[in-house]
Amino acid sequence: MSGIESILKETRSFPPSDDFRQKAVIPGMEAYNALCDQANGQYLSFWGDMARELLSWKKPFSRVLDESAAPFFKWFDDGQLNVSYNCIDRHLAQNANKIALIFEADDGAVTRVTYAELHRRVCQFANGLKSLGIKKGDRVVIYMPMVIEAIVAMQACARIGAIHSVVFGGFSAGALRDRVQDAGARLLITANEGLRGGKGVPLKATTDEAIALGGCDTVEHVVVYRRTDSEPAWDANRDVWWHQLVEKQPEQCEPEWMNAEDPLFILYTSGSTGKPKGIQHSTAGYLLGAINSFRWVFDYRPNDVFWCTADVGWITGHTYVCYGPLGNGATQVIFEGVPTYPDATRFWRMIERHKVSLFYTAPTAIRSLIKLGADAPKQFDLSSLRVLGTVGEPINPEAWMWYYEVVGGGRCPIVDTWWQTETGSAMIAPLPGAVPTKPGSCTLPLPGVMADIVDESGAPVEAGKGGFLVIKKPFPSLVRTIWGDPERFKKTYFPEEFDGKFYLAGDSAHRDENGYFWIMGRIDDVLNVSGHRLGTMEIESALVANPLVAEAAVVGKPHEIKGEAVVAFVVLKGPRPQGDEARKVADNLKQWVAHEIGKIAQPDEIRFGENLPKTRSGKIMRRLLRSLARGEEIVQDVSTLENPQILQQLQESA
Ligand code: WT7
Repeated sequence: MSGIESILKETRSFPPSDDFRQKAVIPGMEAYNALCDQANGQYLSFWGDMARELLSWKKPFSRVLDESAAPFFKWFDDGQLNVSYNCIDRHLAQNANKIALIFEADDGAVTRVTYAELHRRVCQFANGLKSLGIKKGDRVVIYMPMVIEAIVAMQACARIGAIHSVVFGGFSAGALRDRVQDAGARLLITANEGLRGGKGVPLKATTDEAIALGGCDTVEHVVVYRRTDSEPAWDANRDVWWHQLVEKQPEQCEPEWMNAEDPLFILYTSGSTGKPKGIQHSTAGYLLGAINSFRWVFDYRPNDVFWCTADVGWITGHTYVCYGPLGNGATQVIFEGVPTYPDATRFWRMIERHKVSLFYTAPTAIRSLIKLGADAPKQFDLSSLRVLGTVGEPINPEAWMWYYEVVGGGRCPIVDTWWQTETGSAMIAPLPGAVPTKPGSCTLPLPGVMADIVDESGAPVEAGKGGFLVIKKPFPSLVRTIWGDPERFKKTYFPEEFDGKFYLAGDSAHRDENGYFWIMGRIDDVLNVSGHRLGTMEIESALVANPLVAEAAVVGKPHEIKGEAVVAFVVLKGPRPQGDEARKVADNLKQWVAHEIGKIAQPDEIRFGENLPKTRSGKIMRRLLRSLARGEEIVQDVSTLENPQILQQLQESA
């Protein structure tokens, strides 16, 4: 860890305007500090009061936190509630006709759904699920495009107490199969096709392929939403059309009253080793994190139009599409397509068209749009914007300044939100009416988040020094366990090095003299490609599953747009290929990985060697590979290498 040196030196600071501050949910640093003091002094009543104020309970809880089985914490655990009731029903008395969803399809067609209409659709689909025998505790995998029905499916699961596990529509059959199998899903929900950038995505065909791979015996039915006219292959004993399922269902469905700690969903995410981890979130604690952070971080007010560009396949699409905005009764845009179709002005056009006031996207999207038209936003009326957000990776100060000036017109605070699939909701982010922002920093923890940076002994590090980012107290929306693997949960997140006391985020970070947090990167073998977490092990396993490959090692290297690019070092079973032959094999292997995991994991570059650089004990020298990938001079000690010649081989891209 001593190798972690902080390098960023950014001194610009942007406080909110007086006008913004005065109207804000948290108006100024005094208000922010007062909340922090409250949380520090009375941690349990701080969260208890918040849970009573922001959530509607069927049965109130009597205890805020149970730590007896730490790190398996329980929050509000004798209370009962329903997430779908909190996201929909409770808004109906005042806001039945308020727009909940503004859906813009790939082709630009717009559909608006009110809270009353959403209620009807969710109830009917929930009744449909029940008619298929789905009940509380059953797992339902959702493999859907970014359409209204994806939200309906998630909310319907929450309504009847089924545990959903959304799998990103860009994942391959193999990745889908692994997740279905691990979750033991009884039902799969998909669409015949998705539509992205004018092209069909064959979701049903991939679903069939996943099931054909075997290991999905728990799946009884596949519900298929008809998005396009294409006719999918059909298994009449197993497949059910969505529209036929809901046709005659009653428009009311009594919510299943859940215990606060009942699982709400599982979402798989990459780890450094082994298979993806099923991150299990709770009902009440998760929802509280989603609802509260949404109003704080985006300074949500009832007339806002919120747009988060994330897909529901990621945690951002859970917390800041499906649950946070609806839990607050907000109006939000959801978008089926891609930012570059029909051209790279799509985002700016949509902000103007729907008068978006709160906009939340990823640094990688910002960087690619700068490249495709740095002046493009100026052609549009973006004056509706009030707050801009980013998530997924550190944002480089140049992109931050462009976002601030060109998109936000210098008026809109930028909320750089640090969090993870595991934390469930934003942890470190500026409250926009209070905390002055600095380009590249996620600034300060939300009140009630005890974030710190420590060294390997668990002692806090001084300002400017890098260390491990940890959270020192249990938090309502924190992951409860890894589905089916509580031991891995404990080892990964509450490791013994810190006496099992701190939540270890897996990121390195440092703090500046103002206490601002700067995220520096991962401490494990996890890549961050376009804001998505990819385990190097997963990609390596996919590569060695190819009959030609004997050995593979994957590392990241900086990439202008994607943040990190995937570089694979490969040893074939046969002779090391060269020239055209090498290029051909490399292309095949790239396609292979796209097919095995999904296009997001496809290596950008493949290099072939007769061997990989290893230590005497046989461990691959990843640091060396990282230097090679970056084209850096090798300064490490290579005296233990058996065959230094391979370093030269590994310098050449196929
Ligand atoms: C990892 C979590 C949280 C939703 C999106 C990704 C990185 C996330 C930031 C940020 C710097 C960030 C971290 C984190 N990350 N947000 N604002 N600044 N890094 O969720 O797939 O669970 O990945 O993304 O490395 O650990 P995820």
